[in-house]
Amino acid sequence: MPQSAPISGELVIPSHIGIIMDGNGRWAESRGQPRVVGHRAGVRSVREVVRLCRERGVQALTLFAFSSENWQRPAREVQMLMRLFITVLRREVKLLKKNDVRLRVVGDISAFEPKLQQRIREAELATAECQGLRLNVAANYGGRWDMVQAAQQAARLAQQGEIEVEAIDEALLGRFICLADQPEVDLLIRTGGEQRISNFLLWQCAYAELFFSETLWPDFADDAFNEALTCFASRQRRFGKTSAQIMDATLS
Ligand code: IPE
Ligand code: IPE
Ligand code: MG
Repeated sequence: MPQSAPISGELVIPSHIGIIMDGNGRWAESRGQPRVVGHRAGVRSVREVVRLCRERGVQALTLFAFSSENWQRPAREVQMLMRLFITVLRREVKLLKKNDVRLRVVGDISAFEPKLQQRIREAELATAECQGLRLNVAANYGGRWDMVQAAQQAARLAQQGEIEVEAIDEALLGRFICLADQPEVDLLIRTGGEQRISNFLLWQCAYAELFFSETLWPDFADDAFNEALTCFASRQRRFGKTSAQIMDATLS
């Protein structure tokens, strides 16, 4: 069910925003630079969007940093991305803590090198007590992987005789899906001009409003973010009902 969203000025603010941060490579290539320069420049946009979400009272922000399919990129690019994660995690954790931002990494992190896994655990631990924005970073994440791991957990319970197979319904499976303790995604933003989901939060985005921006991720800042929020606020979310039903509920 939809979560109640806080109002900021006139705007209805999404409780949970997901972002597919796309366009780093093209941003760099258009400047005659190697793709990694675009990934580095993208970190600035991450910082900016975290700040904007905090200012607007967004509860949760989930950023797609590395998909389960991104391993198929040239080994050098993958290696540079891993190095960048390690550096950024170490560098940013203090600021996150200071700003009361709680970090969580979702995805199959067991595939990462031990040093990166350790940095992730340290950063999560360092911010574990933070009460402000929930910042989730999807790394080696795939929506299908997420559903499979949830199904495995449910099947295990059934195998152990703790539940009947018939008890596996949407609510039960949903408890095992990543980010089950946070609101469902209200607004999904994809930068970089492509209009696809690319195996991001498939379950959690079942009723998300979609916003596609032509802006390449390293150029994504205030204006583009505000445009997405304004657009979101103008949508009528019907969740299967009729427009008239929604209007009646709003008036009563
Ligand atoms: C998104 O930017 C970042 C990652 C997938 C890690 P891209 O690297 O996909 O940039 P484009 O789409 O090639 O421009
Ligand atoms: C999606 O971007 C993954 C991330 C932003 C991390 P991609 O650039 O990998 O997506 P496709 O391959 O164009 O669908
Ligand atoms: Mg891309």
